[in-house]
Amino acid sequence: MSVVKEVFGKTSDGQNVEAFTFSNANGVKIKIINYGATIVSIEAPSRDGQLADVVLGFDDMDGYLSADNPYFGACCGRYANRIAKGRFSIDGVEYSLAANNGENALHGGLVGFDKKVWSAEIVGDSAVKMLLTSPDGDEGYPGTLKDEITYSLTDKNELRIGYVAETDKKTVLNLTNHSYFNLAGGGSHYDHIMQINADRYTVVDDTAIPTGELREVAGTEMDFRTPKAIGVEIAQAGEGYDHNYCINQLDEGELTLAAKVVEPTSGRTLECWTTEPGVQFYAGNFIGEVPGKGGQVYRDRHGFCLETQHYPDSPNQPDFPSTELAPGETYAQTCIYKFGIGE
Ligand code: GAL
Repeated sequence: MSVVKEVFGKTSDGQNVEAFTFSNANGVKIKIINYGATIVSIEAPSRDGQLADVVLGFDDMDGYLSADNPYFGACCGRYANRIAKGRFSIDGVEYSLAANNGENALHGGLVGFDKKVWSAEIVGDSAVKMLLTSPDGDEGYPGTLKDEITYSLTDKNELRIGYVAETDKKTVLNLTNHSYFNLAGGGSHYDHIMQINADRYTVVDDTAIPTGELREVAGTEMDFRTPKAIGVEIAQAGEGYDHNYCINQLDEGELTLAAKVVEPTSGRTLECWTTEPGVQFYAGNFIGEVPGKGGQVYRDRHGFCLETQHYPDSPNQPDFPSTELAPGETYAQTCIYKFGIGE
């Protein structure tokens, strides 16, 4: 294995963006750019050995910078998902964030981690480390935050994403990767067979903010404990699946299988593992019509996300697992996307 670095493009203010490509002996090939620490492409073989690019994205920076970009492949932070009314308090001090999703704050704000140029270094022959210092007050969040994400590819076809962060003032933090997958390489994802290892999900109001209730999935369209095609009951799930599932985790922080997906025609499979308590299954309901890689046009429900994370709006939900990070503590999180071939 080896990592190849090349120029990808420039941001609108002239910063250089680099691409890092690594592949393994099984033909899996991954490209990541340091704009938004974004996964641009993942090529994975079918049961017949055909490679297809299984994530949505763009060929160049124009796409990533466009208003059409729905966080394709990016790292969302500081707080992935929503914070109600863009407000939270720590030790009695209230912090206020930009309302960039109706009245709520979404994915870290107007210039979230998805829109920052990270510094990047190659580590060994199969990993890239992305580094970002987010200054105190960035997008309204307290504390200088030092973030590190390491992307590595193993010979077991696992893309491992390791997150580490530290702060110099108490803050909140919830990082995720926002890749949109399509294991067929294009088109609707309705035939993908999804399994999610969760008995409960966080019920939300009509602005997608949790009410605090964790509801059993049993007997509802939300139930993916046994494998089911995504399209079968999606019409019953409001605007489509866009919910945080509470992963059945034996111990807090234990690396757990959150979801498994099979695309029956190609045989490609995806396993999603995480140390986080939640996974947002987002069915790509609001993609719209986006001109993407290689002349493809992506539409609603052409890609789905499995965003491993803490629950939405945790800073305002004292009963949810905490997203606070204090000086002296280390935030650490691992997410693994493992590509395979089903029977
Ligand atoms: C998801 C979120 C969706 C939508 C999307 C971006 O993470 O759950 O509601 O905002 O990001 O378009």
